Amino acid sequence: MQHSETHPDTTHLFIGPFSQLLTMEGLPLKGPLLDSQIPIVPHAGILIRGGKIIKVADYASLKEEALSVKASIHEFQGPAIGIPGLIDAHTHSCFDGSRARDYALRNSGSSYLEIAEAGGGIWDTVQHTRNASGETLEKLLLDRVDRFLRSGITTLEVKSGYGLNTQSELKMLRVIRSAKRRTAMDLIPTCLAAHTVPRDFSGSGTDYLEEVLEELLPLIREEGLASRLDAFVEQSAFSPEEITPFLMAAKERGFELTLHADQFTPGGSEVAIKCGALSADHLEASGPREIKALAQSQVVATALPGASIGLGCDFAPARSLLDAGACLAIASDFNPGSAPMGDLLTQAAILGTFEKLTNAEVLAGITFRAAAALGLNDRGRLIPGMKADLAVFPTHHFNEILYHQGQLRPSLVWKNGECVYDKTL
Ligand code: NIG
Ligand code: FE
Repeated sequence: MQHSETHPDTTHLFIGPFSQLLTMEGLPLKGPLLDSQIPIVPHAGILIRGGKIIKVADYASLKEEALSVKASIHEFQGPAIGIPGLIDAHTHSCFDGSRARDYALRNSGSSYLEIAEAGGGIWDTVQHTRNASGETLEKLLLDRVDRFLRSGITTLEVKSGYGLNTQSELKMLRVIRSAKRRTAMDLIPTCLAAHTVPRDFSGSGTDYLEEVLEELLPLIREEGLASRLDAFVEQSAFSPEEITPFLMAAKERGFELTLHADQFTPGGSEVAIKCGALSADHLEASGPREIKALAQSQVVATALPGASIGLGCDFAPARSLLDAGACLAIASDFNPGSAPMGDLLTQAAILGTFEKLTNAEVLAGITFRAAAALGLNDRGRLIPGMKADLAVFPTHHFNEILYHQGQLRPSLVWKNGECVYDKTL
């Protein structure tokens, strides 16, 4: 799906009638949510202008206003449920190569370490990604982005982290920037040079982080390639002691922080809180102490059910995090190693069944709470002033969306007031 730059559209657009429009207006950022709290406008219409929502109201009365301003009208013939465009706040969608062999080996009983020693793991993807041309990587990324758009996602975070040297990390971030100009999807780039110490680096982890800080980050700033920085805090990657000064220095240089935290062992979420990160992601190994600290902080707790499904391990304690008062986002972690499925809606629905999350909590986790994980306050709810990003499902009741566990797909997707996917076409 090719895309020309956002059109300077000053004409009005009117969409409806929605059987139910879930605006998410007024729902709190943190803590549990009941389905009865979901703000639903029945028989709704949305008036849009310049890519933003102007008004949400009863279809029949708003249609008169739409006609008076000569809005172009998109009228649904069948049932339609409208929700905010989905936000996938954690992905590694830019890569080359397959790790199908790792997957088979894991399921045959090999450990992560054995697989890495046999030439698999992150290093395998690093080699394929380093060897791929920018054009190849961009094509792979755009194909994936297109699939995500069709699944209702309108904002997609994409990390580097398979380059792991200055030149290849820059290549990845330039690919993401170039792809961003060719798709309607909002791509949010994040530098993950601190994914792991590359095998071909001669020096310690601290030496590597020093190189990232002094050589790579200034170039990223200079080219305006990313303003977000991620790191993998884990025994096999970077320890809390090693990573903290690096993160603090990056923050001083203007980078927003997010972390791969508490995936196999706790430690990372504490660093995220200490460094004032926007989000701490994974959290499968978070215990009562980490849950309480996250809930008391402003850090968004992002569960990545796709990694639990891909690795066959526990889900993040989403229920406990919400009950303690945390802000819970849900993201796909799409990557060739731990989370090869890349289907946010399916994974969020499955997390809901295992963790006993209400539909309100799941939908919040992939809309406005995911926006908070990215520090974005212009999307995630269908209210005046916000981006006209929405996914439309061909059904009568919003409960159907998660009930079908990802098999009920959007029939229409709108991004910045532009129809970017129409199933009937
Ligand atoms: O989020 N945990 C670290 N990084 C990724 C996996 C990356 C890979 O295996 O290629 C994750 O699970
Ligand atoms: Fe990840």
